[in-house]
Amino acid sequence: MCGIVGAVAQRDVVDILVEGLRRLEYRGYDSAGVAVVSASGELTRLRRLGKVKELADAVALTPATGGTGIAHTRWATHGEPSERNAHPHVSSNITVVHNGIIENHSPLRDALKAKGYVFTSDTDTEVIAHLVEEELKSAGSLLAAVQKSVKQLHGAYGTVLLDKTDASRVVVARSGSPLVIGLGIGENFIASDQLALLPVTRRFIFLEEGDVAEITRHSVSIFDKDGQAVEREVHESNVSYDAGDKGQYRHFMLKEIYEQPTAINNTLEGRLSNDSVLDETFGNGAAELFKQVKHVQIVACGTSYHSGMVARYWLESLGGISCNVEIASEFRYRKSFVQPNSLLVSISQSGETADTLAALRLAKEAGYVGSLTICNVAGSSLVRESDLAFMTRAGAEIGVASTKAFTTQLVGLAMLTLAIGKYNGLTAAQQQELTEALKSLPGKLEQTLALAPQIEALAEEFADKHHALFLGRGDQYPIAMEGALKLKEISYIHAEAYAAGELKHGPLALIDAQMPIIVVAPNNDLLEKLKSNVEEVRARGGILYVFADADAKFQSDETMRVINLPHVADILAPIVYTLPLQLLSYYVAIIKGTDVDQPRNLAKSVTVE
Ligand code: AGP
Ligand code: GLU
Repeated sequence: MCGIVGAVAQRDVVDILVEGLRRLEYRGYDSAGVAVVSASGELTRLRRLGKVKELADAVALTPATGGTGIAHTRWATHGEPSERNAHPHVSSNITVVHNGIIENHSPLRDALKAKGYVFTSDTDTEVIAHLVEEELKSAGSLLAAVQKSVKQLHGAYGTVLLDKTDASRVVVARSGSPLVIGLGIGENFIASDQLALLPVTRRFIFLEEGDVAEITRHSVSIFDKDGQAVEREVHESNVSYDAGDKGQYRHFMLKEIYEQPTAINNTLEGRLSNDSVLDETFGNGAAELFKQVKHVQIVACGTSYHSGMVARYWLESLGGISCNVEIASEFRYRKSFVQPNSLLVSISQSGETADTLAALRLAKEAGYVGSLTICNVAGSSLVRESDLAFMTRAGAEIGVASTKAFTTQLVGLAMLTLAIGKYNGLTAAQQQELTEALKSLPGKLEQTLALAPQIEALAEEFADKHHALFLGRGDQYPIAMEGALKLKEISYIHAEAYAAGELKHGPLALIDAQMPIIVVAPNNDLLEKLKSNVEEVRARGGILYVFADADAKFQSDETMRVINLPHVADILAPIVYTLPLQLLSYYVAIIKGTDVDQPRNLAKSVTVE
């Protein structure tokens, strides 16, 4: 689930591996390790609990050199975070790193123990090392041993193995956890994310499900799940080299919040005509498919699920078709009814979220007319496995708490509403109005970001609170949910979101002066209703923090702090009102001193169930 980096080169690769891990730190992890083999076949392994910095310090003290090596950041699933459970794991000559979960580790462990193998960690991963060691006894090569071993593994893995008696190669296998091969000149690399390898190459091969590959300095041989030799396309990456650097910002999250106007410009670029969305935006054949679509089923997790919830309001009120949104981990395990002419839309920053991917695969069998993914990572599993893909072009998102990925998803979903709506009664005038609104969005976001000092001042009042309530109505309800998720994730303050009309059905009982209530209040059809809900809270002594349109005429006083946002078209409001909530969470986290970019217990890309 976390980070893998590997290299086969002539030069010493230790620094490349550690730098690669550093570039993957954003994914969240609890320990890190590296193993390299020197030309004389000597293996050096170093592992540390905690940050990559600890590992880098250890490397500085213990000279380790070698041209072939593997490295890992671990997000523990089996066995506590500790040095002995950190990867790489070793079985005699075999060394392994692994992302994911081996579900049948227990019977495999028993069988291997019975054969005399001694386990030194509590991880599921260690079975891979011993299993390959065992298979190597009868197989002619490390490649053959890995091919035989993976047939016995159930679960999800991206794994890289090396045999210290032959440092000329590593063997890698992918099933359920992404792996990308980086092509160099006279050297080759492997990683769980291309970002790790950008300092050394821009040419990548994305492995497919079930692939096993052997990588040497001069060759890459890939075999599919049936063991057939296959060629996989080489992609030239356009992810920028400094995507992993914070620049002038204190945290990646802050950088990414401020990147939103530019990111959204990129999302829009070349996709809008004067008065509508260009059909090619969603890929070849999109227009034919959209003409048939009569229902949209959205699946996603976390923040991406919130953007799907906003899209439901848009697709039903403007797009003229029905829409369902479901959390992917629920959708995948229930038998759902497939409406006629349904389009399955998955939404994901990473394109690798295990639950979302499983939902897409399930839908393929279930009779949907087609699938579309709204995704930020080119070449990711969701992009490759969907019929159509809309790339959000947010650029690499490093902060675990998603920001620019969310707002660019919303822009993509607004465009989807236009693209589908035109076949379902959205008039030319409406299309033109929405298109113009979208074009004005980056400017509105700049104006909103200029409110940061006011929001920073508000944050002081949250730092000693243990709970918070977020309120919104209509398409602002999911924005309230997103605001609550951000606050939970990075400041560890318990926060809940309610559709404001639901307050009186229970949560009003929670209101007192210790419970900050954050309200998102654009000037829309529901404003008067929302104002009544705000009064219900005030009457019970609650302290309100209201983000509102100036025309909504909320007045600051001792029980209500009001921050006025620019006036925006209805369709833009969910996007614009997200920004102050992101900033609020950020500043509260700064005051609380939490690890903003890598909050405890979380990982950036959740490739396990
Ligand atoms: C958001 O801040 C999260 N950390 C998380 O909820 C995330 O949105 C979720 O895991 C889905 O990820 P995806 O968009 O990469 O599929
Ligand atoms: N399941 C493995 C472990 O707990 C790998 C975890 C990971 O993906 O980092 O060690």
